[in-house]
Amino acid sequence: MNLIFLGPPGAGKGTQSEGICRDYGTIQLSTGDILRENRKTGTELGQKAESYMIDGELVPDEIIIDMIKQEMRKPELAAGYLLDGFPRTVPQAKAFDALLSQLGQKLDCVLVLNVPNQELVARLTSRRTCRSCGKTYHLMFKPPLAEGICDLDGGELYQRKDDVEETVINRLSVYENQTKPLIDYYQKQGLAKVIDGVGKLDEVYARLKAVLD
Ligand code: AP5
Ligand code: MG
Repeated sequence: MNLIFLGPPGAGKGTQSEGICRDYGTIQLSTGDILRENRKTGTELGQKAESYMIDGELVPDEIIIDMIKQEMRKPELAAGYLLDGFPRTVPQAKAFDALLSQLGQKLDCVLVLNVPNQELVARLTSRRTCRSCGKTYHLMFKPPLAEGICDLDGGELYQRKDDVEETVINRLSVYENQTKPLIDYYQKQGLAKVIDGVGKLDEVYARLKAVLD
């Protein structure tokens, strides 16, 4: 299955990707994770993206489209993929449509996770992320077993710089203006499925699973 996961910052795309990839054999491709990894290792791409990410702005389309073209060459994606955080603008979606037809692939579904802004702010400002593996937690809703330490690999948990309240508010308005139009774009292609992202983690997952099944 080839899927796109669309939704505002904090909607639960990264969190719910785990279950989808486990149950449907898709590979998660998160543009945010790829960019953060590049920043960590200090690549040219990471340096180009850094200031945009810290401010909660989108990295320019050309940079992201080049990056996706590289990523889509990976042979393991033949099993099916789940794009988390891409596309995020209409030009990105159009470039991706062109790439799909070049590769002779098609999308099966665009999952749109809906959560009201007030809850998104609460989710993001209390999110903690593992410095080594990127797994995410929430101080109240999904706490780690031991404070400040990743359950999976014992890595240090930190707060992403773009998860401070002022930047979260900017990211939400960037989503509203630049990414939300994609819901309509994929609705016109008959691919968008809107899912309520409010509720316990397993309740939200059950809704996603019902759509995918
Ligand atoms: P990216 O990393 O993609 O961030 P995002 O889209 O802003 O999304 P998040 O990762 O913040 O949210 P999520 O939906 O994954 O939520 P999560 O599951 O963690 O992008 C970061 C930056 O990179 C961008 O700002 C931009 O600069 C750049 N970038 C990336 N892609 C780009 C592109 N295509 N074009 C241009 N620039 C790009 O959950 C959030 C929290 O909520 C967690 O703490 C979690 O535990 C908790 N939670 C999840 N579900 C629930 C629930 N049901 N109830 C309670 N809490 C919950
Ligand atoms: Mg994420």
